[in-house]
Amino acid sequence: MPLELSDILCSPVWIISTVVLGLVVRSQRRGSWNPRACKVELKGKTAIVTGANTGIGKFIALDFARRGARVILACRSEARGSDALREIRELSGNADVHLRLVDVSSLESVQEFSAAILQEEKEIHILVNNAGASGLPKGITADGLEVSFATNHVGPFLLTNLLLDRIKSSAPARIVNVSSVNHWRGKVDFSHFHGKNLVYRMDEVYNHTKLHNVLWTNELARRLKGTDVTANSLHPGVVMTEVMRHYSWVVRFLFNLVGFFFFKVELRLY
Ligand SMILES: NC(=O)c1ccc[n+]([C@@H]2O[C@H](COP(=O)([O-])OP(=O)(O)OC[C@H]3O[C@@H](n4cnc5c(N)ncnc54)[C@H](OP(=O)(O)O)[C@@H]3O)[C@@H](O)[C@H]2O)c1
Repeated sequence: MPLELSDILCSPVWIISTVVLGLVVRSQRRGSWNPRACKVELKGKTAIVTGANTGIGKFIALDFARRGARVILACRSEARGSDALREIRELSGNADVHLRLVDVSSLESVQEFSAAILQEEKEIHILVNNAGASGLPKGITADGLEVSFATNHVGPFLLTNLLLDRIKSSAPARIVNVSSVNHWRGKVDFSHFHGKNLVYRMDEVYNHTKLHNVLWTNELARRLKGTDVTANSLHPGVVMTEVMRHYSWVVRFLFNLVGFFFFKVELRLY
């Protein structure tokens, strides 16, 4: 007799494994998080946040805006970006928040965005390379790059390098690259950049891209020594966002089920 979904969901194995998974995830939270904890004023600072229309990026942008920074929301969708812009301006009371469009998976788009930013912004104090995607289907971009690598690594790498002189001349400044704890399961193989020798199983490709984030950031930090510009990569914790949008409904269902244990990006906390 074929197994029904309801049989699986009601089985003790399912319930126990869900609870164990939840506890593992909960152990990553390291205490509760107060979104108002950082009191450092950012007046006079200019910050660029990529992927700022939703999830972690939107929360970061709101936090910077609330603390008085001039904030550039670097988003690829005008509609989604405009909604976020309106919401962030309203919630923070800061009108110095602006939307600029960029698709970080496209080298041309990153070049156009950087050129416009260098024209408009005399100083850049904070760059957060947050835009990223997990579980993207197999694909090669117009530049001949594997799409996850283009989005998560090559685009942010190019963007940072194009803005680097301006960031250095604005020091003290900082560059923050949003990686993932999953980087420890990644491998370095430069043929991956062109879609070769990759296995598209769950988040395997994502893991490789996030390892590149860490390695590149470490080298950048080393090269920036003595410039008063810092470069750091981080794992944000497990956060309930749209990050699982490219996975099957089963995986998204599981993610939502154990979501109780995750951080939530609730803007209304402000
Ligand atoms: N959530 C987690 O538990 C978790 C854990 C570890 C690391 N991270 C990392 O945290 C970062 C933010 O993820 P999230 O959880 O906030 O995910 P999310 O809710 O899916 O947000 C991702 C953001 O990146 C943007 N983006 C994706 N591809 C882009 C492209 N080609 N050009 C420009 N923007 C693009 C998205 O724009 P659209 O809305 O237009 O697609 C969206 O604004 C990612 O780098 C992710 O790898 C997240």
